[in-house]
Amino acid sequence: MSEFKKVFPEGFLWGGATAANQVEGAYDVDGKGLSTADMVKFVPKAERTADHALDVTRAEIDDILAGKVDATFPKRFGVDFYHHYKEDIKLFAEMGFKTFRLSLNWARIFPNGDDAEPNEKGLAFYDAVFDELLKYGIEPLVTLSHYETPLNLTLKYNGWADRRVIGFFTNYAETVFKRYKDKVKYWLTFNEINVISLSPYTGGGVLTEGAENPMQLCYQAAHHQFVASAIATKLCHEISPDAQIGCMLARMTTYPATNNPDDVLKAQYENQMNLFFTDVHARGKYPSYMNRFFKENNITIQKEVGDDEILKEHTVDFISFSYYMSLSATASPEGDRTAGNLMGGVKNEYLESSDWGWQIDPKGLRWTLNDLYTRYELPLFIVENGLGAYDKVEEDGSIHDDYRIDYLRKHIEQMKEAIADGVDLMGYTSWGPIDLVSASTSEMSKRYGFIYVDQDDEGNGTLARSRKDSFAWYKKVIATNGEDLA
Ligand code: BG6
Repeated sequence: MSEFKKVFPEGFLWGGATAANQVEGAYDVDGKGLSTADMVKFVPKAERTADHALDVTRAEIDDILAGKVDATFPKRFGVDFYHHYKEDIKLFAEMGFKTFRLSLNWARIFPNGDDAEPNEKGLAFYDAVFDELLKYGIEPLVTLSHYETPLNLTLKYNGWADRRVIGFFTNYAETVFKRYKDKVKYWLTFNEINVISLSPYTGGGVLTEGAENPMQLCYQAAHHQFVASAIATKLCHEISPDAQIGCMLARMTTYPATNNPDDVLKAQYENQMNLFFTDVHARGKYPSYMNRFFKENNITIQKEVGDDEILKEHTVDFISFSYYMSLSATASPEGDRTAGNLMGGVKNEYLESSDWGWQIDPKGLRWTLNDLYTRYELPLFIVENGLGAYDKVEEDGSIHDDYRIDYLRKHIEQMKEAIADGVDLMGYTSWGPIDLVSASTSEMSKRYGFIYVDQDDEGNGTLARSRKDSFAWYKKVIATNGEDLA
């Protein structure tokens, strides 16, 4: 019996992924306005009450703005990519990147979100970054919104809970599509759009404290983002016909904890709650399984005339997603819990965990790719995957991150299997090719990079960049188009 060839297609887009608020720094430079991320303070592990620390209340924001909070705000300084982008891109080029995923910080371009005119200095910064990438033949892959809602939109409108934000966003999207149409061929609308239902402040600048039904606010905000995403898709296709635009989901692949039918149903429910977001983007309509969920949770989505048509007519060109781990669900209240990316589950005894308790599951990636491709028959793009770990710098400055190489190798092997299974996979951008500030905990010590950055959780350090062992390994992987993973 002949075996299917396990090879990556020609032109496969290898690279790395970042977000403006986690790398750029320069939070108040060259006319940038404040964003929601700039309000998130670092909370040391011992003081954290949950696995993550990223939600902020209105009272806290008021105190921060009044200068009453003495804390470190790591997303304000990132790793100073704003002033180091040439050096960083050179290192990406040395690894042979074909693509680099970054987000535009909306508040750098429209400082208040609702301004009539953009900030030229903000636009010029991204021009310079794109030019630098293109100089090395690296295609920019650009996310329009990655946890960086202009703070003014939260204070004035409660973020995406207010329909008017659709108009501000489409103005922003139109501005950047026109400006960068000759430089950018791959766009994503909202990073991990499902996060609006898990952390509405992070996903959409929405404050829910005091709300009668917080879930109503979240899903209404999600509706506004769906409509905005569809309008952006339309605009992108009109302005830049050669470009492709996709949606982005934090895929929370969930297994039943046992073969008890109650667990199986629970897992199906969790998967539906997650895939709802790609269902709307790819199929152009709300799936019927949400009707019951909305009814039982007293949620009524306010739609305007024309919304359904916009969603239907402007579906995405491809589906992108992040994948770090899998989860397991049980209908029983018992069972050991485990942490995850904003969402935990019950422990899966067959899997190992990262230093942060995320359950490592490379084969789950193969399953996920097959499942998504069967469901949508659209090209897929893995735009985040990686291992957050503590790294040790040896006396000679070297960093032997074989655990990271092992994680990535096993996931890439499963991507090959999925391609042999028939999945159309466009590319792979591992998360945090350079160490950056963690989204969920604002730690620097949770490192993902091939490139080490000398900076600690409080922002102390020289910011010097150095190559970890994984740097040379990933370079070889790209040079051989995924053939040599040793
Ligand atoms: C994804 C986000 O959820 O996971 C990134 O899109 C984030 O912004 C990444 O950084 C890893 O999560 P964390 O919390 O380890 O930074």
